[in-house]
Amino acid sequence: MKRREFLGTAGMAAAAPAGAGIESARRDFPWAERELYLNSATEHPLPLPSAQAMERYIRSITYGPDAEREKFENNELQAQVRALFANLIHAKPSEIGFVPATQIAENLVLDGLEIQQSGGNVVTNDLHYGGSLLMYQKRKAAGLDVRVVQNREGRIRLSDVERAVDRRTRLIAVALVSNVNGYLEDAKALSALAHAHGGYLFTDVIQAAGAVPIDVRAMGIDFLACSAYKWLMGGRFGYLYVPEELQGSVLKPKQFGGRSSQPGAGRYQVSTASHLGCVCQHESLQYILRLGVGNIQAHNLKLNQRLRKELPRAGYECLTPFGAATPISTFRFQNGEAVRKKLQRAGAIVTLRLGEKDSQMRVSPSVFNHLGDIDRFIGALAG
Ligand SMILES: Cc1ncc(COP(=O)(O)O)c(C=O)c1O
Repeated sequence: MKRREFLGTAGMAAAAPAGAGIESARRDFPWAERELYLNSATEHPLPLPSAQAMERYIRSITYGPDAEREKFENNELQAQVRALFANLIHAKPSEIGFVPATQIAENLVLDGLEIQQSGGNVVTNDLHYGGSLLMYQKRKAAGLDVRVVQNREGRIRLSDVERAVDRRTRLIAVALVSNVNGYLEDAKALSALAHAHGGYLFTDVIQAAGAVPIDVRAMGIDFLACSAYKWLMGGRFGYLYVPEELQGSVLKPKQFGGRSSQPGAGRYQVSTASHLGCVCQHESLQYILRLGVGNIQAHNLKLNQRLRKELPRAGYECLTPFGAATPISTFRFQNGEAVRKKLQRAGAIVTLRLGEKDSQMRVSPSVFNHLGDIDRFIGALAG
């Protein structure tokens, strides 16, 4: 579809009204009609209401006069987005800061805790994001004590983490939902362990926020970060959660700029956050909250459970713990090239990791997919 046609479709199609269920979400995602898109863990398609809001904003700053400007007066729209995200994770708006992306925030937490200077250590695991593990490797080379717990059969055992933690552990850092295989960490157990040793828990929630319910207080999460381009449905935008009691005292701001004089978790912000991202998130967060994260989780789990049950029968070994209440399933198989061709013929989009010995694929359906998509996908791979 050309851009002009897309704009036409966007203008005509009605967005799901407030309270509408997931059954009708597909019509808000035109992409779903063009491809068998099962790759939201890489980048989630934009829902129409968010695309339309961004188009209005782009038109306004392209042709002027900037009628959208008013929304940003006194940081009004930013305050609304902060409140929406706070609502999503059960935090206070003053505990939310904007960051460009997840990994930037994780670096900021590591620097702000002054772990290396105090002789502390960090415990993470091999189901965390590869980019973060690279960052830990670099910090280790520079002298930080980093301990990487290895998964066993796609899970991180608490007893293994307990062995790695000691009284010098300042931080346990994990991806709440692993991008590798969809494993869901037990945040409550990890935070209890960290706190018992005088440390803190950082969670990267980029594969969880919007897809898995998060309650920072109930889960004992101390620091949390994510970008919005996956399950938060778009906008190059990011969030950092720091509870009031840890702001400044425990987590020290290390970078300063025009925005770091803001109160609350805004103190960790340096520069102006993307207005376009903010416009997108304003719509996407409302969209997600309207559907309900619990409903989204249940819908995605239903699709994933069918994949996890059926694909092993067709020779694809499931690397995701069965029943993990997450939107991601990963499979291992031989003959990667043949599978790549099958996916291509079916017009199916997933994350494919072709290897010399064996290959993997990560499948991540979302609210616009239905069981018919999953059955078509399984049929294409089984044939
Ligand atoms: C678990 C996880 N963390 C972090 C990232 C990258 O985050 P960002 O681009 O926001 O730094 C990804 C991207 O795939 C991811 O899956």
